[in-house]
Amino acid sequence: MLDGKRVLLIIAGGIAAYRSLELIRRLRERGCRVRCVLTRGGAQFVTPLSVAALSEEKVYQDLFSLTDESEMGHIRLSREADIIVVAPASADLIAKMANGHADDLASTALLATDKPVLIAPTMNVQMWAHPAVRRNIATLESWGVQRVGPGSGALACGETGSGRMAEPMEIVTAIETVLAQAMRPRPLAGRRALVTSGPTWEPIDPVRFIANRSSGKQGHAIASALQALGASVTLVSGPTNQPDPAGVAVVNIESAREMLEACLAALPVDVAVFAAAVADWRVDGASDQKIKKTGAPPALQMTENPDILKTIANAGANRPRLVVGFAAETESVEAHAQAKLARKGCDWILANDVSTGTGTFGGDANTLRLITHDGVDAWPTMTKVAAAARLADAIAASLPPTLKAAQ
Ligand code: PMT
Repeated sequence: MLDGKRVLLIIAGGIAAYRSLELIRRLRERGCRVRCVLTRGGAQFVTPLSVAALSEEKVYQDLFSLTDESEMGHIRLSREADIIVVAPASADLIAKMANGHADDLASTALLATDKPVLIAPTMNVQMWAHPAVRRNIATLESWGVQRVGPGSGALACGETGSGRMAEPMEIVTAIETVLAQAMRPRPLAGRRALVTSGPTWEPIDPVRFIANRSSGKQGHAIASALQALGASVTLVSGPTNQPDPAGVAVVNIESAREMLEACLAALPVDVAVFAAAVADWRVDGASDQKIKKTGAPPALQMTENPDILKTIANAGANRPRLVVGFAAETESVEAHAQAKLARKGCDWILANDVSTGTGTFGGDANTLRLITHDGVDAWPTMTKVAAAARLADAIAASLPPTLKAAQ
């Protein structure tokens, strides 16, 4: 699918820049036309000559070059591409993108583009974890910038952790995915969606907590599926091992009360899907210190957590147009789900059987029944990704198209 596609590859400063040369080769083998912008930092690691030789194109470096501007202005450079790929994406260039800088050719082309942008970040593990970088990444993702990596492992600086640029073939696959998405119809363009996912952790003391078996696979897949249809998605997630879905703004929380706060902060939205397995109860007055084993086991006093779905389904003027809940049941699945639909005030509820042996928690498949006020639609067993796509299609069909979707 890459044959004939035009990639604008921006190579920023980082030791991983040498792997961008392999990326150029892999893209050229697949029939891509690759034009490259080499930043000042990038040119410290790879030469314009090697980039030009591999891409078989002129290499662009200078925003103020008279010849470059007359042959191929920076606006044309970004508009004549099908996708802009920033690999490696340094912390500095990411910060420029997130803050709208235009003080060199790379940042200017990125600001001027109307095409999908994919970044492959690389940096030191501490830099990657720094709140400034986290904020910048979240900003870019909320604007629809897609990301591949970074991966974990030994870093060039000698430390170990997250910060390695994705492998060239991973970047090629990500380019294919982004371009495939760009060609799909986007009926939810202009719509805002909120999705909850994963478990909540309710502290007993600073060491121990109460949790459940949710892996976040279903909720994360729903966030991805809504994003793929063009929605601007906020995913509020409890602790999981799932990678952040590309193009989705992720808010990480631990407890039910934090999840409620993050959900309320994400309003207003057009649609909200509550796939998280929220703890119904928490320990009343969790201990500030580790509870010592000094005799009889502690008698934990429980108190009820806020019901996030119910709160948002009854949020008055702030209520999303469509509120979708889940019902995880181990017996009388449909009857209990019907009761929850009414009790919580949502529009749709997806009933699933989580009894022992079903493998619903943590597994890759789900067997759902979509219950609405009009009836019950029993879906066959399918992967959680397929179930998410089916739900996203149903959501898109139920909302009137926006002007943006019609474009
Ligand atoms: O994460 P996976 O491993 O992929 O598994 C998927 C799943 C089983 C977690 C998911 O498909 C699912 O069923 N999620 C809902 C789990 C749940 O807690 O269901 P419930 O019947 O207890 O809650 C009903 C609804 O109210 C849910 O939408 C839940 O998110 C919401 N709720 C519940 C309690 C609470 N305090 N606040 C809530 O918002």
